[in-house]
Amino acid sequence: MKLKGSVALPGDKSLSHRALMLASLSRERSVIENLSSGQDIISTRDCLENCGMEYRQDSQWLNIRGGHLKSPFVPLFCGNSGTTARMLPGFIAGQKIFATLTGDPSLSSRPMNRVVEPLREMGADISSLQGKLPVSIHPAALHGIEYTMPVASAQVKSALLFAGIHASGKTTVHQPILSRDHTEILMSALGYAITLSGSTVTVSQSDTPPAGFHFRVPADPSSAAFFAAGAAMVHESDVIFKHLAVNPTRFGFFSCLEQMGVRVEILDRWSELREPVADIRIRPDHLHAVHILPETVPALIDELPLVAILATQAEGTTIVEGAGELRVKESDRLHAITTNLEKMGARITEFQEGFRITGPTPLKGIHVETYHDHRIAMAFKIAGLISDGRTTLDDSECAAISFPEFQNVLNYLIQN
Ligand code: S3P
Repeated sequence: MKLKGSVALPGDKSLSHRALMLASLSRERSVIENLSSGQDIISTRDCLENCGMEYRQDSQWLNIRGGHLKSPFVPLFCGNSGTTARMLPGFIAGQKIFATLTGDPSLSSRPMNRVVEPLREMGADISSLQGKLPVSIHPAALHGIEYTMPVASAQVKSALLFAGIHASGKTTVHQPILSRDHTEILMSALGYAITLSGSTVTVSQSDTPPAGFHFRVPADPSSAAFFAAGAAMVHESDVIFKHLAVNPTRFGFFSCLEQMGVRVEILDRWSELREPVADIRIRPDHLHAVHILPETVPALIDELPLVAILATQAEGTTIVEGAGELRVKESDRLHAITTNLEKMGARITEFQEGFRITGPTPLKGIHVETYHDHRIAMAFKIAGLISDGRTTLDDSECAAISFPEFQNVLNYLIQN
């Protein structure tokens, strides 16, 4: 089933979280267009509303007024969203309000100390339940620190930057590998004092709230990746993604496709609030194996389930190293990838921090165990396109966490 057509996908999830948080700091009206419609973004929006942010949805436009944030009367429920749960503690600590964050069972099992510990070093009065949610934050004065992150996590970095704009002096974060840099790009576009040097970022204290802004959120490359992977594996496919976020810290999957032999063409380029945007065309060609090294993992961390599926159709042995973070995502994604692909007939070996796959191998349809993880569900729907026999999922609904339109867009591209 080839994929054909041109699509303008909903806004990027990472940018949508950040745009909402920044708009809620402004005393003026902001307008966000093409906000991600994923459940994770609704979680962030509702948490911010409980802290006093006001919004009105007018068709494609979300009008926001923030600026006078207060302690919420209810716990802030982050649902399944790791980005909400990791970024909000820094954001809330900076506002000197009181809040408790909770989440669904999957989120409540994920590590929070990575953000709790550095915030405490900054002076935050923050506690967690044995390093997990619930996390409570009480008002306290913050001071800037210099922090070396043990893992490359954009969520942790962003929490410290949000706290840093309200901490005395400067807050400097050293990352082991550069992770997605949307927070620093948007903050600097809105006038915050951000300095960058390699994978180190510094923010200075600012008492001035940002001006209101208008942001058209570029389409989500992690959502586009599903169809790009499908197009890469099926002859005669030809898909154009309009208005796609192509920030280099997010472009790893498209670079990987190119390395595997796929034709990736950039048709047009521009930027929105300093974030790079482009129209991109994807056409298949003979696929060959790739070697993904630890330093490239952050730029395609969420797309690694798709790399595994592509690897089953590629000539040679694909190796992915340094991807241990996949074990603490919405599910243990290394385990989810391996168990499902093994059942489909792939030649895969799982490592503690990655996997090895030798292809090409024909895949057979199975009943996929998604572990209620949206990215596993959508990736294996794509695997189903090239499998013999039927592929069914134990939970298709979980796609709505990041991409409720997934099935409709897939149907559209198949029918073209
Ligand atoms: C995200 C960062 C990544 C990514 C997640 C979204 C973000 O997590 O996996 O889907 O928006 O900052 P880590 O920063 O923990 O790697």
